[in-house]
Amino acid sequence: MSSLAIIGGSGFSKLSALVVQDAYSVETPYGATSAPVTRGTLNGHEIFFLPRHGAGHHLPPHLINYRANLWALRKCGAKRVVGLAAAGGITPRFAPAVLAIPDQIIDYTHGREHTLYDGTSDGVEHVDVTSPYCEELRGALLDACTRTKQPVVSGGTYGATQGPRLETAAEIQRCERDGCDLVGMTGMPEASLARELGLCYASFAFVVNWAAGKTDGIITMQNIEDNVAVCAERVMAVLTELATC
Ligand code: HPA
Repeated sequence: MSSLAIIGGSGFSKLSALVVQDAYSVETPYGATSAPVTRGTLNGHEIFFLPRHGAGHHLPPHLINYRANLWALRKCGAKRVVGLAAAGGITPRFAPAVLAIPDQIIDYTHGREHTLYDGTSDGVEHVDVTSPYCEELRGALLDACTRTKQPVVSGGTYGATQGPRLETAAEIQRCERDGCDLVGMTGMPEASLARELGLCYASFAFVVNWAAGKTDGIITMQNIEDNVAVCAERVMAVLTELATC
């Protein structure tokens, strides 16, 4: 069984290079996953894949069952989980089409089922999230970027916002004052739940727009989709390499 799982986000309801073998509907204590967990091969190596927003991209960020998704991946045998993350760029290094492997998160989300310790089972564990991402997997992603000659920004703080609307310019100014470099809607509680489950989790972000107020005019879906298309092949190349190690 593979130990690598990939959670697809916007632009990645499917992994183009994945050779699908089968798909499992996994029962979880938390309800249904976003979609069945797909098992397949990438570059000849077995991986699991789960599209976070559902196979037809119907689930908005605040309605994703993050607990079920991560629990199911662990149940399938995943040990390492890469969360793909379309993001808005806030600080100058994070321009559209940049690939990034952030190393910190600030959580601005609310009202999401964000912990396994919800009072329904005995005990509470206060997991350490000083470094919210798995350094080993961050390193493996960085190495895969180097081997595939894909420029990448290592480090940076990802601000997880509630969505599904984009932010106001003032909200982005606040994120920037807080130290955020990137903004996205799904990084939390995915990262902290992975930690609660003992999974080695890293985010592989790709910037698809300047965040609100960081450029003239409004953010259009067309603009975002154009940048997803620019990033998709490069992200796929890195993941294909990552699958080998
Ligand atoms: N804000 C929040 N999430 C996003 C953005 C953004 O600008 N772009 C892509 N995901």
